Amino acid sequence: MKLGVVILAAGQGTRMRSSLPKVLHRLANRPLLRHVVDTSNKLNPAQTIVVFGHGGEDVQQTFSSDSDLLWVEQNQQLGTGHAVDQAIPALADVDRVLVLYGDVPLIQTETLSSLIQAATQSDLALLTVDLEDPTGYGRIVRNEQGSVQRIVEQKDATAAELAITEINTGFLVADKKRLTDWLSRIGNDNAQGEYYLTDIVELAVADGVDVKVAQPDEATEVMGVNDHAQLAQLERYYQHNQAKRLMQQGVALLDPSRFDLRGELTVGRDVQIDINVIIEGRVVLGDGVCIGANSVIRNSTVAGGVQILENCLIEDATIGAESVIGPFARIRPGTRLAGRNRVGNFVEIKKSEIDEGSKISHLSYIGDAVVGKGVNIGAGTITCNYDGANKFQTIIGDNAFIGSDSQLVAPVTVGAGATIGAGSTITSDAQPEMLTLSRSRQYSVKGWKRPVKKSKK
Ligand code: UD1
Ligand code: CA
Repeated sequence: MKLGVVILAAGQGTRMRSSLPKVLHRLANRPLLRHVVDTSNKLNPAQTIVVFGHGGEDVQQTFSSDSDLLWVEQNQQLGTGHAVDQAIPALADVDRVLVLYGDVPLIQTETLSSLIQAATQSDLALLTVDLEDPTGYGRIVRNEQGSVQRIVEQKDATAAELAITEINTGFLVADKKRLTDWLSRIGNDNAQGEYYLTDIVELAVADGVDVKVAQPDEATEVMGVNDHAQLAQLERYYQHNQAKRLMQQGVALLDPSRFDLRGELTVGRDVQIDINVIIEGRVVLGDGVCIGANSVIRNSTVAGGVQILENCLIEDATIGAESVIGPFARIRPGTRLAGRNRVGNFVEIKKSEIDEGSKISHLSYIGDAVVGKGVNIGAGTITCNYDGANKFQTIIGDNAFIGSDSQLVAPVTVGAGATIGAGSTITSDAQPEMLTLSRSRQYSVKGWKRPVKKSKK
């Protein structure tokens, strides 16, 4: 059976009060539509069509690398039925059509599979759910035998129909040929003057179709985003589920409600994560990694036994085993720490290779540097890597010792085993195994008197 997917994404999203098209708002740092497309792709559809409207260029731009998506414009939002109808001419020779929504991001592949499964026994299957408060949704009207008869929208419903708690989620699977025919027959004679996709149900029943129904595990899967409050609610739900999964994998989350994963996290054993940690992009944490409160780790690999203390920001970096980072360290893109490194408070490292066991413990900026093994970089050391126009490299050999408050003006090399006296400004290469100093000699003035305040006359 060949499946075609139609994703409705033409809605304006007025209640977001934003210039960004609704489906580009982010959940776990991914556009809503990205969640839907990724879920849909897992079903291996023969074709996926996105029906767009407002802000269509931005949306297509965001998905420009998804070459297999087909884009169909719905100029005017005349209703869900009209929207699906726009996609019909673009549908290839698929057998079934699955309708998804660009602003309903948490639908699960398993739920869609069960809906597709239900549609193998019928030309129309609906995803429905029972809600304690069904206000606002289309209601599933069944006959005495329990067969689905039609869907009635809130605004068109009688008092008796409004009491129905089984609601239409909007997700459905239909036979393509029959769907095409039904859509050509729906009108817009209703309270909202819209072409309702839901009206195909009554036509299907009239055609003798026994409409099937599937249900999701959780109602949250079918919840849409219309405003920021709903978006935040779905974000929390999503984060809660991820946190639960990580704890099942053995991660000690000190408070799962204060942890955010916006990407993919791979973990070893005995990982511990304190509160308010944000993990973004692709992050790998090795065995026994501990992350302190308020740290952000983005697209990085952290090897086993590493401790990241409180308030660190680590981006596009590799942290070698048994290193201790922070508190208050900033590790910027392109940094590789080989292992057993110490990076202390108020240290910034950018695009640098730091070999085994080297320490940068306090208040330093190390940029565009290659640092050997066992190096000790004293407090307040700065690699002056930028002359206002170009960046230059600093090379520091194994076991060098850089005295506190030194400036290494790149391009410059500090030889292996070299010692740089505190307070030096190093502008040319420092020889290995020697002491290099550039500060002026200290002297004392004998008999010097402090100035005294003049007395007022
Ligand atoms: C729709 C259903 C309702 C269901 C509810 C679930 C209809 C007529 N009603 O109602 O039974 O309970 O969803 O949330 O289908 N859209 C377009 N083009 C349009 C109109 C809508 O792309 O012309 C898209 C919207 O962007 C949105 C989705 O379709 O993603 C649903 O549209 P909306 O107007 O919100 O439908 P509801 O009134 O909520
Ligand atoms: Ca809606």
